[in-house]
Amino acid sequence: MEAHIIRKKFLEYFGAHGHAIVPSSSLIPDDPSVLLTTAGMQQFKKYYTGEADPYTTIHPLLRAPLGHPNAVSVQKSFRTSDIDEVGDETHLTFFQMLGNFSFGGYFKKEAIAMAHEFMTKTLGLEISYVTIFRGNDQVPKDEESRMLWNAHGVTDIREEGVEDVFWGPTGTSGPCGPTTEIYCKNGRGNDVEIWNIVFNEFFFPGSREELLSGASGKKLERMQTPGVDTGMGLERLSMIAQKTGTIFETDLFAPFIELLPVELSDRQKCIIIDHVRAAAFLLADGVRPSNKGAGYILRRLIRRASVYEHLNNIPVHVFDAILHDIVHEYGEFYSELLCENEAIRTEFLAERKKFGNTMTQGIKAFSAIALARENGAHGESLSGEEAFNLYQSFGFPREVMRDLCRDNSIAFDDAGFEEAVKHHQEISRAGQEKKFGGHGLLLDTGELKAADERELAIVTRLHTATHLLHAALRKVLGLDVRQDGSDITVERTRFDFTFPRKMTPEEIAEVERLVNGAIAGDFQVTKKDMAYEDALRSGALHFFKEKYPAEVHVYTIADPKSGEVFSKEFCGGPHVAHTGEIGAFRIAKEESSSAGVRRIRGVVSGS
Ligand code: ALA
Repeated sequence: MEAHIIRKKFLEYFGAHGHAIVPSSSLIPDDPSVLLTTAGMQQFKKYYTGEADPYTTIHPLLRAPLGHPNAVSVQKSFRTSDIDEVGDETHLTFFQMLGNFSFGGYFKKEAIAMAHEFMTKTLGLEISYVTIFRGNDQVPKDEESRMLWNAHGVTDIREEGVEDVFWGPTGTSGPCGPTTEIYCKNGRGNDVEIWNIVFNEFFFPGSREELLSGASGKKLERMQTPGVDTGMGLERLSMIAQKTGTIFETDLFAPFIELLPVELSDRQKCIIIDHVRAAAFLLADGVRPSNKGAGYILRRLIRRASVYEHLNNIPVHVFDAILHDIVHEYGEFYSELLCENEAIRTEFLAERKKFGNTMTQGIKAFSAIALARENGAHGESLSGEEAFNLYQSFGFPREVMRDLCRDNSIAFDDAGFEEAVKHHQEISRAGQEKKFGGHGLLLDTGELKAADERELAIVTRLHTATHLLHAALRKVLGLDVRQDGSDITVERTRFDFTFPRKMTPEEIAEVERLVNGAIAGDFQVTKKDMAYEDALRSGALHFFKEKYPAEVHVYTIADPKSGEVFSKEFCGGPHVAHTGEIGAFRIAKEESSSAGVRRIRGVVSGS
């Protein structure tokens, strides 16, 4: 059975069983405590915790088809934790998660009955065995699930502990609970975990690490709206349904793998296709390569694929052909790929080109190290310092160095690398402090720096001007403009934003005109403390790479006469009270910062 048919059958089955069919949310989650979406339940987290009511708010699609607000989705998901496993039978970075969800509606009985029916009747597959939670000091053994599976004729039921069959929470706190998992045999006769059915009964006020270690003393709390959250990778399910030995032999990957030269090892082929596919989806959701957060994950994917491309002399058109086919194949279900086709391909190729020169030099540097090892000149592993040098000077992500070491039978010193990174960060921090004269700063928010009261007044004016600039850029260049970084000193504001090309002189003049217009209007600047979720809903701009606390400040700049809002942003301040205090604003420079990111230096009178 083809993967797209499985996807359709899943949605149809649960649609017919009282679930609203909800589209996948973006790979960039609303929840600032997680970098990327890792599970289908993330967009529904607030329905479990009681922060939102699925019956009445937010998701019109959840208006209960059968009286209960149940949902089904195919969620775009990304797990960086699996990056080193990619290339084996079952691991990926990006994958599609099939999931059904109940928020206070059905529970174990119905969840197990539907999962059983879907697997055995709708897909006609055989369940190899299932697992249940064996219990611990806080949660009893899941005897109910054992009984339910038994009633469906499943007899191989294995007990597992909290590491394997207790799911969540995601991020810094959230819903979690015991799970029951379904295993099936793949084409090689190996048992593979296919479906994770979570009974979200608890809320944990800490991270999963804290839950597992128990050291924080935090306790599980009963959740307001216990429910069901399930997740099944479409890729793994396709492997079972198509009886292949690995996920890469399914129709979700095989056509793209065929485009690669046959000489590559299977592992290399899998890594390339996984990474290119994942990069296409991240780009389609607006992520751009950078050195931070999700942008750095994307950069690592493209760079690793490019190293293999280079080492294997893969002709330049091959990656373009793969991207083209991925966009069109997957675009039938994920239309954002088609909408962003142009951007995906330009951004991917731009990052690859940018990395090109340093990569060649880096590979030369690595070959020299490898050669020295063969001559017995050094110890066996690539030292932390050598790895740091490759990372710092040539932009090699950690897994690229690991790959290179692996291919050359050299050990990679993970801990040593980690230490070297930390050591250099300390040196650079010390350097920063020295630059500011060593006598401390009156203000240093990371974004704004001022040594004394005089400087504080100037950076505060520049800061409010930066909000006006951000809003004006979006008015002139369009809503794709997003803040990518900002740094304010007494001399200037430096603002980075996503935009694919140089601004024209007319656009620069128009932005200056809008900002100075807002200054001339002496708009009022107001601050409001809001719950993070409410702030998001208010449409306030926020910096998607930043992690925000539960309570945020939202600064609004509005024309007091008309009430019209000029700018609204999440921000820690400080700001002037009226824009008239800013004085004249001017764009001193507009230049490229990195691929797809422009940089503006702006000044105000007196700065
Ligand atoms: N949220 C569960 C998982 O991701 C279903 O495995």
